[in-house]
Amino acid sequence: METRSLPATIADALTCARELDGVTSIEATALLTHTTGQERSWLLAHREESLDPAAAMQYLSLLARLAEGEPLAYLTGIREFHGLDFSVSRDVLIPRPETEELVDVVVRWASNMTSVRLVDVGTGSGIIAVTLAELLPQARITAVDVSPAALAVARRNAEAHHAADRITFLESNLLAGVDGPFDGIVANLPYVAGDDLRTLSVTHWEPRVALDGGPDGLSAFRALIAQAPQELTPTGALFLEIGFDQGERVAALCREIFPQAAIQVLPDLAGLDRVVTVYQAEAL
Ligand SMILES: C[S@@+](CC[C@H](N)C(=O)[O-])C[C@H]1O[C@@H](n2cnc3c(N)ncnc32)[C@H](O)[C@@H]1O
Repeated sequence: METRSLPATIADALTCARELDGVTSIEATALLTHTTGQERSWLLAHREESLDPAAAMQYLSLLARLAEGEPLAYLTGIREFHGLDFSVSRDVLIPRPETEELVDVVVRWASNMTSVRLVDVGTGSGIIAVTLAELLPQARITAVDVSPAALAVARRNAEAHHAADRITFLESNLLAGVDGPFDGIVANLPYVAGDDLRTLSVTHWEPRVALDGGPDGLSAFRALIAQAPQELTPTGALFLEIGFDQGERVAALCREIFPQAAIQVLPDLAGLDRVVTVYQAEAL
């Protein structure tokens, strides 16, 4: 972005954004909300209000980064998931709306249980563990990640949502260091395949450890599914978020290890395969 004079008003700031390719007015308003501390509705109702020069300078600098492709969530440090605001940093995957489907499946399964012990494998920003703690007051949750930096973000989010007393955070390679058994294993593991990893633009911004699923995208699934029987109760269930084209392959991996279980591939709101469930109880 060329050097420009500071926008004097909110309207000027929004005009600067309009001149940039690929920046939407929603994103520009979110940056203004972040830099001024004012609500979106206030900003839109006070377009002629003057902008504090420090806020205007910060806004222009963030706008330039946005125009370069840096995700909005990393610029504001916040992303909404399942109706809750979560802190995010470059150490964690930006929460995706598709993951709400995974959470909803687990909530439907556990809602009538009087107590339930869950493990969230690859917790990242903690969205799954914290949202489950919020929606299932009877749940005790272990949240693991191989990345200590991600675990620090997840812990902060649990504290912000008053869920830290029901979530145990643990640095672990999948379930290696975890003390089961659990009623449910929930995981949104890295599932991008090697070739896609080289071409996808997200890989430039988001941590490789959160995306890299090995040559065929299934490495983490294979390892976790193999560990799962030792860490589940005899009636326990496994819930996996998957890539849209991985349903049959992940279900087949689950069938090898859980031949007696009821295994399903469920779609997300867009109709794409998104979650694999393994219920041992229905097979008993
Ligand atoms: C796709 S991200 C999901 C993050 C978060 N659960 C979400 O849904 O937004 C995968 C996460 O798994 C973690 N991870 C990758 N390999 C792992 C392993 N072997 N053991 C534990 N965590 C791992 C990454 O650090 C990353 O936080």
